[in-house]
Amino acid sequence: MASLEVQTLAVEAIKADFPLLSRVQAGRKIVFLDSAASAQRPQAVLDAMDDYYSTTHANVHRGVYAIAEEATRRYEEGRLAAGRLINAPNPSREIILTKNVTEAYNLVTYTWGRKNLQRGDVVVLTESEHHANIVPWLMLKAEREIEIRYLRVNDDFRLDLSNLDEVVRDAKFVSVTAASNVLGTITDLAPIVAAAHRAGALVMADGAQLVPHRPVDVQALDLDLFGYTGHKLMGPTGIGVLWARAEILEAMPPFLGGGEMINDVRLDSFTTNELPWKFEAGTPPIAESIGLGAAIKYLEAIGLDRIAAHEAALTDYTLNRLTETFPEIEIFGPPAGADRRGGVISFKLGDIHPHDVAQVLDEHAVCVRAGHHCAKPLMRRLGVNATTRASLYLYNDEHDVETLIEALVDVKRMFQ
Ligand code: ALA
Repeated sequence: MASLEVQTLAVEAIKADFPLLSRVQAGRKIVFLDSAASAQRPQAVLDAMDDYYSTTHANVHRGVYAIAEEATRRYEEGRLAAGRLINAPNPSREIILTKNVTEAYNLVTYTWGRKNLQRGDVVVLTESEHHANIVPWLMLKAEREIEIRYLRVNDDFRLDLSNLDEVVRDAKFVSVTAASNVLGTITDLAPIVAAAHRAGALVMADGAQLVPHRPVDVQALDLDLFGYTGHKLMGPTGIGVLWARAEILEAMPPFLGGGEMINDVRLDSFTTNELPWKFEAGTPPIAESIGLGAAIKYLEAIGLDRIAAHEAALTDYTLNRLTETFPEIEIFGPPAGADRRGGVISFKLGDIHPHDVAQVLDEHAVCVRAGHHCAKPLMRRLGVNATTRASLYLYNDEHDVETLIEALVDVKRMFQ
């Protein structure tokens, strides 16, 4: 049996920072294992947003009075933190604050895609994408008759890169997830970026499931565009991040029209604002940017290297405990000890339906996600309609895993 030795972070102290984790449900403390869907917030994030609303709220980039200027400064500080987290070279111009990463994808397909792609042009995605990186391209395909090619998933739950050059040949855009929200697989981006660039394509990666868990450097990865979201890294909902190199953003037409994104408006024409505001129509998510900045500070204070080490150890512990306790369990992702593996663990427990599993776990106050995880093409590839998914974060420990195991034993008792 695996030992209780996952000691890389002071998890008890970290848990105490998260008010929700002390919530008691039907006499049991919540065990939160659904951070891949949305993480919990530390008090520091709640305080930063509360303080903004209590002391500094005013609209940004408009007022000349003191609190409006302070709100603008704090909003823009969130942007700078969002860029710093991924080592963006020029965050004050190249970080666009969106509603979420889904909106970042829609922004790119709507503006870059409609400007640059014509009938027959090739876009490359992967079979393991979230719907957010498939559906906007399919919408463009319906309109423009572009060709979409896919990198497939191998039986080892990793992308098949054996025919990479062939798949990306003549492609104009390659868009891949940096970490799967179903498999836990972390994408080996380097060969994909190199092949895409050899083919003359731009490359975008979806960091929603990676940025909260591992250090990410968009310059070292040689990416052209990158997206991630606030709520999965302990920030608020309603804020996402799109980074792209300035020359790409400069050449893209605007997305949503309205206030803030303009330089001048006449009755028959308009000119656009400078980057990044050209892509930020209307009153932006001010409190959310401030909350995102606070979440990033919290992550940085603990250290993404330490978080990654903790999660790697806890993931191995969980995989070992699941497989030794439940011989019939099927895990859809790389095994314990594998490289480039995050803390997302999708599984099926024999023939028991994943929704039944999740419901019984809820009676134990264990929160997991069951379903297709917004990745139906991947589910078809795996030959299932749904999985149960437990996902780990910095505030989880082996006691949470043991509660999961006990609850799963109860699931088996009920259904077998
Ligand atoms: N994309 C999020 C998930 O995987 C919502 O659960």
